[in-house]
Amino acid sequence: MKALILSGGKGTRLRPITYTGAKQLVPVANKPILWYGIESIVAAGITDIGIIISPETGEEIKAKTGDGDRFGARITYIPQDRPGGLAHAVKVAQPFLADTPFLMYLGDNLVESDLGLFVDDFKDRRLDALTLLCPVNNPSAFGVAQVDERGRVLQLVEKPKVPPSNLALVGIYLFSSTIHQAIANIQPSARGELEITDAIQHLIDRNQQVEAHKLKGWWLDTGKKDDLLEANRIILDTCLETAIAGEVDENSQIIGRVKIGKESQIVNCTIRGPVTIGCGCHLENCFIGPYSSIADGVTLIDADIEHSVILQDAKVIGIQQRIVDSVIGQRAQFKVAPQRPKALRFLIGDDSQIELV
Ligand code: TTP
Repeated sequence: MKALILSGGKGTRLRPITYTGAKQLVPVANKPILWYGIESIVAAGITDIGIIISPETGEEIKAKTGDGDRFGARITYIPQDRPGGLAHAVKVAQPFLADTPFLMYLGDNLVESDLGLFVDDFKDRRLDALTLLCPVNNPSAFGVAQVDERGRVLQLVEKPKVPPSNLALVGIYLFSSTIHQAIANIQPSARGELEITDAIQHLIDRNQQVEAHKLKGWWLDTGKKDDLLEANRIILDTCLETAIAGEVDENSQIIGRVKIGKESQIVNCTIRGPVTIGCGCHLENCFIGPYSSIADGVTLIDADIEHSVILQDAKVIGIQQRIVDSVIGQRAQFKVAPQRPKALRFLIGDDSQIELV
């Protein structure tokens, strides 16, 4: 069995963060989203992994993720020249996949479940496709499946106006090599992409064995800001363990589960976990509230932050109001003068959002 992780795409919904980097490398609890996927695939016993990359962000993904050694896997990078759709990515990966059955994983998705259970079921029952489904409140925003009482998939529709059920397709699929033939027989959709839902529907229409499992536990597609913050909250809540490597002065107070990386200095701060702080950070006169992740090299002075993700080398200085539900990009600087400011001065990138609430 092989795995194919889709880590190309445009990432338009996470702009401006994705103007300068891959969305799959945005950290959740200070670890790139993509790495959670690789770890769960390896935990399910699959170590031969292909990763689809785009011309814009591929080099960054390769440089950061490497050849797979750190995960106990072998990674092959597969360039996709344009975001032609999920089924297009499988087509591009066909030389890597050959006739081997494979697990396909969308590189911006996170799930709680043990993938090994799905892999075993797929192998035991020699299915052509196994999809994972999760009940959602807004099925019109997803690919939606209609299934019978035995778990057989009857119909799939992409973002339906009138959804046949509330069961959304999670970004994890298992396929036998019959999927390649199905992909060869479909046409691009109205949005110009080769859709994996159309390829699976093609299998269903030809009475191939397509089944579904309902996911137990959470599933997050981190493609938008609020989903990213939610993923950060859940991972900090469930996985963070206290570990303090940096320096904390005697005027600071650490409450709950807090991780602080090497060469970080915490001066006169209150930190209420779960909070993770990377290496080489400087925090002075701050309150850092629950569900915050602060990446390496960040400077926070006279700041009050909660339920937020601050990326590498950002600086936040002198902000008296609490910063909440925010994502601050790499090297971004957010400063307020110590005396009451008389003017606001900005250099804000395209698609940035500033809300004074
Ligand atoms: P999406 O989130 O559906 O697409 P996107 O990355 O273009 O994002 P947006 O809608 O914000 O513009 O893609 C899901 C995953 O699949 C994501 O990790 C990107 C990847 N992908 C590819 O690798 N190749 C593709 O052709 C497409 C469409 C997506």
